[in-house]
Amino acid sequence: MNLMVRKPSAGTCRRLSYFIYPMTPHLRIKSYLYFKYNKMKHLLSDLKTVCLDEQKQSVVILDQTRLPLEEIYLKLSEPEEIYDAIKKLKVRGAPAIGITAAYGIYVCCNKFQTESGSEFYNHFLKIMDYLSGARPTAVNLSAALNRMKQILLQNQNLPVREQKEKLLCEAVTIRDEDATACRKIGEYGLQLLSPGTGILTHCNAGHLAVSEYGTALAPVYLGEEKGYRFQVYADETRPLLQGARLTAYELQRAGVNVTLICDNMASAVMQKGWIQAVLVGCDRIAVNGDAANKIGTSGLAILAKHYGIPFYVLGPTSSIDAECPDGEHITIEERAAEEVTDLWYKHRMVPNKCKVFNPAFDVTPHYLISAIVTEKGIFRPSELKKLFNS
Ligand code: MRU
Repeated sequence: MNLMVRKPSAGTCRRLSYFIYPMTPHLRIKSYLYFKYNKMKHLLSDLKTVCLDEQKQSVVILDQTRLPLEEIYLKLSEPEEIYDAIKKLKVRGAPAIGITAAYGIYVCCNKFQTESGSEFYNHFLKIMDYLSGARPTAVNLSAALNRMKQILLQNQNLPVREQKEKLLCEAVTIRDEDATACRKIGEYGLQLLSPGTGILTHCNAGHLAVSEYGTALAPVYLGEEKGYRFQVYADETRPLLQGARLTAYELQRAGVNVTLICDNMASAVMQKGWIQAVLVGCDRIAVNGDAANKIGTSGLAILAKHYGIPFYVLGPTSSIDAECPDGEHITIEERAAEEVTDLWYKHRMVPNKCKVFNPAFDVTPHYLISAIVTEKGIFRPSELKKLFNS
């Protein structure tokens, strides 16, 4: 595994020139918007969640366990490294996990030396089986690997070298489709918001969880480009603090107005009237519209219902599991007790032998969800089935 430390970026000059050069009010507004746009492009586009290296021999991920203190990139080329990165949330967020698995299986198969199609296919299946087990809840992991498998099956008659090219092509397509989907989700999501909206979000469903922009945060970024100046409240998201470490980090880095709260403060900010919409991502949506997302999401939906605040789930259609009729059928990942008892503390904060329950996700029932925003449009949970008929 290789490490790369990112050099500090230089965006200050443009910012200074905006303040130094006198301009007419009209020019000033145009320049401000231009600056904002470039700032967004600049600040987020240099932050690569997951990509291939130039030689296409390894997957490069930004190690999210090191954020917000350090931006460290890891190069992964062995199945064990890729599995470990997904399992330990060095790369996380449903779409980003799917993209990592697709690039990862390509990288691992590309270096496998054989002329035999069946030997190559068996090698692929072995890695697919292994990587699929890294995390169980996000459907994007198995969906991406299944797409890669289908490509191999469709091209079984080609020489192994060409099958490898097909795998690469499919992995890049999965990544590019995600970027396009996120942009569309942002556009649809923005239709539900107005300038100055107070938004509560949970976990991290932003740029760091996908290829670009995010899902729940995509409308925030697009709105920001248009000068909407949202007031975003980020739940810190116990126990792994994705909201504090990642959402607050990426929003602040992009110049979005963000305020961090502890998870148990959500009701208080809603009661104060500071929240007009709750935006969350999803790891798997069942056909009936039940949605699995980071633990704590369903509680927010209950609170939102109580205060009469719309609760939106935003995600690509690749997060909808056509095989899953309802939330009861979604496997919920359970993680190590130490994440709750020890992780952020100098000393263990729980009596020895105390029992701990640490589910990583929960399911929000469809009747608490105001709308599901996908790249194909905005749907009420009961309307999701339309997507399967189109
Ligand atoms: O455990 P994590 O950090 O992978 O959980 C991520 C989430 O719950 C996100 O909200 C979800 O994957 C949507 S990402 C666009």
